[in-house]
Amino acid sequence: MVEGAGFEPAKHEAADLQSAGFDRSPTPPRLQKLGNSACAQLPCQLKLNYLLFFAYKRSKKIDLLSKKVIEKSLDSKEKETLEKLILLETVGSTNDEAKKLIETIEKNKAVAVFSEEQTIGRGTKGRSWVSPYGENIYFSLGWKSSLSINKLMGLTIAIASSLAKDLNLLTEKKIKIKWPNDLYIDNKKFGGILVETTSTDLGTNLVIGIGINVQMKKESGSSIDQAWSSLHPYLTDEITRSDISSIILKNTVRLTIDYPSNGLAPYLDHYNQVNFLRDKICEVEINGKLITGKAGQVNNKGELLLMSEEKNIYLSGSEVNIKKTF
Ligand code: BTN
Repeated sequence: MVEGAGFEPAKHEAADLQSAGFDRSPTPPRLQKLGNSACAQLPCQLKLNYLLFFAYKRSKKIDLLSKKVIEKSLDSKEKETLEKLILLETVGSTNDEAKKLIETIEKNKAVAVFSEEQTIGRGTKGRSWVSPYGENIYFSLGWKSSLSINKLMGLTIAIASSLAKDLNLLTEKKIKIKWPNDLYIDNKKFGGILVETTSTDLGTNLVIGIGINVQMKKESGSSIDQAWSSLHPYLTDEITRSDISSIILKNTVRLTIDYPSNGLAPYLDHYNQVNFLRDKICEVEINGKLITGKAGQVNNKGELLLMSEEKNIYLSGSEVNIKKTF
């Protein structure tokens, strides 16, 4: 486990050295054996490779997560709420890590976990979440909330809305939300939110898991069975994964402060403006039955209106699977 900024993951070093013509070790093996004094006697080609490697490292800014940048935009109230911020190199799922860490924090406080990769990243509805090293953002916020589960029904809608709004400051392309909480750009999914809850004597322990594709390579995403994209090609400025992570962290921590008193209402208008499904004909599976209808607005309980030929139905996230849109 790596906590804090400034760590230098060995994987990056190894990859960089390999592309610079070295084998695996961060220090070229022959240099290690010879020591610095022997450098002068090195064969020309090896010296050249060594110099080229450092020039290459300088020219290619490696975009690692940095704790300093990630926490830069938290205000004092948000800092007080966030008891721990942890950066990992690798983990099974940041949601599982946050779930464990919730046990170590106080009521109404939060713990944040980022990882450079996940080996068993989870999506909604039992799907897996492709999580290659260093290409995207994998984040979970553990929140020991004193609210009961029925007061938290609209939370995922609120998160999706506030996140989409702030991420949209980074790009001119409209970010849309496919109900309930898939983030879309250019008609393709680039982010998802998985909220997992456990009821306790004190209220509810929540884990808000967010995955954002930032610069996912085509090969990395080859197993994904739907149209997907990444955020980086749409960004107007040179923005790092840590800058994007800072937006995610601020938004989610802010919600743990605002949502208990304000609920979903402040987010609903924006949500409906960017509602990807609105006015689309959808085929929906509800408890094993297929129903076709036109999607409408999301209401103050976070439910999506579906107008079928027979009747209007309000869909709630847990029991519904949107199969197709036309
Ligand atoms: C979805 O299926 O749309 C939700 C995807 C949620 C993925 C994130 S990545 C960080 C966190 N850890 C996980 O295992 N899943 C969530």
